[in-house]
Amino acid sequence: MELKLSQRVLSLKPSPTLAISAKAKELRAKGVDVIGFGAGEPDFDTPEFIKEAAIKALREGKTKYAPAGGIPELREALAEKFEKVNGVSYKPSEIVVSTGAKNILFLLFLMLLNEGDEVLVPAPYWVSYTEQIKLFGGVPIEVPTEEEKGFVLTVDDIKPFVNERTKILILNSPNNPTGAVIDEKNLKEIAQFCLERNILIISDECYETFTYDGEKHISTASLDEEIKRITFTVNAFSKTYSMTGWRVGYVGCPNEEYAKVLTNLNSQSISNVTTFAQYGALEALRNPEAPKFVEKMRLTFERRRDLILSKIREIPDVKVNTPKGAFYVFPNFRNWVAKFDNDLEFTKYLLEEAKVAIVPGSAFGYEGFARISYCNSDEEIIEGMDRIKRALENLA
Ligand SMILES: Cc1ncc(COP(=O)(O)O)c(C=O)c1O
Repeated sequence: MELKLSQRVLSLKPSPTLAISAKAKELRAKGVDVIGFGAGEPDFDTPEFIKEAAIKALREGKTKYAPAGGIPELREALAEKFEKVNGVSYKPSEIVVSTGAKNILFLLFLMLLNEGDEVLVPAPYWVSYTEQIKLFGGVPIEVPTEEEKGFVLTVDDIKPFVNERTKILILNSPNNPTGAVIDEKNLKEIAQFCLERNILIISDECYETFTYDGEKHISTASLDEEIKRITFTVNAFSKTYSMTGWRVGYVGCPNEEYAKVLTNLNSQSISNVTTFAQYGALEALRNPEAPKFVEKMRLTFERRRDLILSKIREIPDVKVNTPKGAFYVFPNFRNWVAKFDNDLEFTKYLLEEAKVAIVPGSAFGYEGFARISYCNSDEEIIEGMDRIKRALENLA
């Protein structure tokens, strides 16, 4: 039967990562021991005190519709969090809660983009940005960052791509997939430039708690009041508290007017984030044990990052930067990819030969690289990287 699809969805691409994860699943179903490094989520369970708070909320009958922008207690707690952790003062009425950072971004593009508006997307980028922008008639403009500079975005990277149609710049620090963290000097220069050129900033800070080597995450909106007025600060409970399946994300808006529009969009689409999940999120902000959990995870990931880097550096002809944040490494496999048609074929080879699943760089706009997540045990990291090394040595 002919599908009667709208123009809008015709260009929507399935994620190239799906091919690899479908293949990995197929192999696992056949009993093959595949080690997956594709996951974008911590391998920790959500802390018990958060689960308990949601269970308590359920028992107390918090099972009905809730205010579209988020329960008031959560927005108040988020305002305190923004102040204390990020050094940004938002009123609760400037904060909106929605179903994960992904839907927050979706609603922001829906709210801000007109046909033909250009959005600067520093590459390598998280794949949903470009697809969401296109859905709303926007034009994603890829801004390459330099491997030699650890993929850290600079104002000079952006300048050649700016014109009168440029409406938004996406910042994602710490970055998925590179782990790059934008330092204060670069961040200031970028934000100042956006201010001068009347460009809005969407600052996706989902990985803010995962920084290493003493590197500090800086919230774009904390730089100064003027910059705050052009910045949307996007964040979520997903990675920070290992709550990916709960679907609770939030945004701090430059003013109440934007927050009202986003709240209306929530009210006409999702109604509200699952009510008892919001009580779990509230507990994550209020429970004194939560920062200890976050720090334990951070230390674990820092140690694993060092382990995976040392293992990757044993593989011949592979270059890898030391990422300062998030939980991914993004090595340059170009010398090996050259033996295949493209990096997807390369990662398929690794899956078939080494029984290791990694995500091709082309999924993030960088052909020849691959994203390896280290949300795995030490044993899996060691075994997985040894398998890749052996499979590549067989090719040599
Ligand atoms: C950079 C980035 N932004 C947003 C998201 C979406 O997060 P959430 O699960 O809260 O929707 C992810 C998840 O992988 C991500 O990597």
